[in-house]
Amino acid sequence: MAQALLEGVGVSKHFGGLTVLRQVSFRVSEGEIVTLIGPNGAGKTTLFHLISGLHRPSAGSIRFELSELVGRSPHTICRMGIARTFQTPRPFVDLTVSENVAAAGRFAGRPPLAPPEELLALVGLAEHAGVLSRHLPAGWRKLLELAMALALGPRVLLLDELLAGLTPAEVDRATALLRRIRDRWGLTLFWVEHIMRAVMGIADRAIVLHHGEVIADGPPRAVAGDPRVLEAYLGYKGGNDHGN
Ligand SMILES: Nc1ncnc2c1ncn2[C@@H]1O[C@H](COP(=O)(O)OP(=O)(O)OP(=O)(O)O)[C@@H](O)[C@H]1O
Ligand SMILES: [Mg+2]
Repeated sequence: MAQALLEGVGVSKHFGGLTVLRQVSFRVSEGEIVTLIGPNGAGKTTLFHLISGLHRPSAGSIRFELSELVGRSPHTICRMGIARTFQTPRPFVDLTVSENVAAAGRFAGRPPLAPPEELLALVGLAEHAGVLSRHLPAGWRKLLELAMALALGPRVLLLDELLAGLTPAEVDRATALLRRIRDRWGLTLFWVEHIMRAVMGIADRAIVLHHGEVIADGPPRAVAGDPRVLEAYLGYKGGNDHGN
């Protein structure tokens, strides 16, 4: 198997007595698009918080190339080449769209993937460069965060529900854009998404979390038909026992 670029081994997270992640292991190879799916509350965002250093795992190891990430600060992890977008976007609301991208670029400590104007054009926000971020609709704030993440010069992008809040046409455009981003810069995408139609079409692999455990990991089509995954999403047990 190819060397994993990003790898977690036996990752657990407890909040007090609540176990949110239990012995989660995953591998993401360079240039792969891997989607992380699972019902609400499965632990997806928490796993991203652990990878990006916002929270520390209760147990386990997370490695980028061969470097241990556990114990490093979020800004160190970012400067190592792992950038993320948030489920609830957090741009600087008193800065304009282009000022936000420029600010991210200054923070980076790595060369941006392209100049700010080009990144804004790429995500479709060039015409809104001068708008204060507080006036952007929620879906567009996510696209702004994508441009900000690209300004950090990442090798890995962690995307947390990037498509939520976009119209169906915008979802299609953003999905095609992410594929182009991967192809153009060889980026690796680890992507939490609830819009299955979009994400399952472009992912190389899907990992399914349910109640904090990995219940499936494989090609999207196989995962979508896995009885345990259907049960997690639909409460569907399969088989012929109509009594259930
Ligand atoms: N700081 C925290 N303290 C206590 N419990 C937490 C904390 N953060 C998350 N949780 C709990 O952990 C569980 C997983 O939350 P998480 O946000 O990771 O789920 P998710 O898979 O991202 O869900 P969604 O699809 O709704 O975004 C939830 O039950 C949540 O309430
Ligand atoms: Mg979440």
